[in-house]
Parts: sequence; structure tokens; C-alpha cells
Amino acid sequence: MDMKNLDALTLESVEYIKTKTDLTPEIGLVLGSGLGGLADQLEDASVIPYEEIPHFVKSTAPEHKGQLVIGRLSGKTVLCMQGRFHYYEGYSMQQVTYPIRVMKKMGIRTVILTNACGGLDTSFEPGDLMVVRDHVNFTGDNPLRGANADGFGPRFPDMSEAYSKELIDKALEIAKEKGIKVQQGVYIGTQGPTFETPAEYKMFHILGADAVGMSTVPEVIVANHCGIKVFGVSVITDLGVEGKIVEVSHEEVQKAA
Ligand code: HPA
Repeated sequence: MDMKNLDALTLESVEYIKTKTDLTPEIGLVLGSGLGGLADQLEDASVIPYEEIPHFVKSTAPEHKGQLVIGRLSGKTVLCMQGRFHYYEGYSMQQVTYPIRVMKKMGIRTVILTNACGGLDTSFEPGDLMVVRDHVNFTGDNPLRGANADGFGPRFPDMSEAYSKELIDKALEIAKEKGIKVQQGVYIGTQGPTFETPAEYKMFHILGADAVGMSTVPEVIVANHCGIKVFGVSVITDLGVEGKIVEVSHEEVQKAA
């Protein structure tokens, strides 16, 4: 992907999307494995398959529908990614994160990223929700590598508050009000597609992570680069905790999510 030309490319994507809806979304919602069902609840929804949108790649992850759904949810106008792109699919980090750039060009100021992941904290249980307070980029790559897209943000972006404290506080307050149990913690992002060996789960916990998954980190980096506020929430679908590790499959992850 030509980073120098990102302004022009994203404009083409935005122009196409605008031919499919009259709504102006204010929030982006990235729905992870097993979580795509939320997009079906949008009102006045326009559905746009990724393969129709200029410069989008195809979603190949199982059960990821691969479409944008733009509509209204709880009084807000939202753009949902029903399925996302992953590095393990063979796409570059720039391709994986391209939709975040398009969101920026559409005027979106806040993005909510969801994912399914393995829990590392000994107090976590499958089915728990974890509000992401911070992350570790363990992918070995970075979506901002290469020429800087100056039109989007600086060469050396700050990551001191990658996940908005204001949004974390708001979410915790709402969870408390509604009696929803939430955990909080650090997400470590890998390349995948393998799940972890017991030794890797242990290492990630020693490194300071509470949950491990194969997504989110690249998108959060690009959102921070272009000044989009981030909220992240993980569903703990299985445990990478000594004594509690069982065989994991994508189907079980989907079911748990
Ligand atoms: N590891 C990595 N990614 C995951 C896991 C896991 O245990 N569970 C769901 N996604």
C-alpha cells in the first residue's frame, strides 16, 4: 500500500461509502470473532461488502462476515465493521488498518474495538469482559513502518494514553450501574494464527499482559496516530493460566464470545 498516497486512496473509499448511505457516522465499531451479531441490531442500516469498497481487502477469517454496516444504535450513528482484517491472513499491517484511516477521513472521532482473546490473569473466567487499559505490541511489526502519512499524524506518535481514560471511566461507571461484571487489564497482540503454548502464555503474563489475542493492536496504533479516541473491550474466551489450559479451537472461541 502506497503510504504517501493514503490521502487520495482513503478519499476514494469514502466517496464510495457515501454513495451507499446518507448517514454521517460519529463512532466506529470493530466487531471481533463471535461478536458480529451486534451489527444486525442497527436501524436504518446500509450494508456494504468489503470487496465492493475501493482499496479494502477481503475478509478471510472464518465467520467474519466482511462488511460495513452503517446505521443507528442507541441514538448514535455508527459505522460497524462486521469482521476485521488480521495480520495472520497474510495482509500487511497497512492493509489491516486501512479501514481506521477511512473512518478518520469520514469524520469519526471515536472507535470501539472488540475482540476475543485468551485470559492470562488467574482471576479471569471464560465469558468475562475485559476493558483494555493498555497494550503490548508483540506482533513484531508496526502499521506505521515506512513513509509517514503526514496528512494523518506525526512520524513518532505518542502512545502514553492509547486507550482513552475518559472512555474507560465512563464504561466502568456504566457497567457498575447496570451490574455488568467487568475485568480490566493489558492486552498483548501477537501475529497468530497459532494459539499459545503453555510456555508462551506464561511468558506473556510475566511480560505484564492479562489477555492475549491476534488483533486490535495494529488498529489502536493507527487510531492513535490519526487522533481517534480508542475504547477497547475483550471477551475472554479461554484461559492461558497454568492448570486451566485446555485445547482451544476457533469454533470454541466463537461460541464463548
Ligand atoms: N490466544 C490468542 N488468541 C486468542 C485466544 C488465545 O488464547 N483466544 C481467542 N483468541
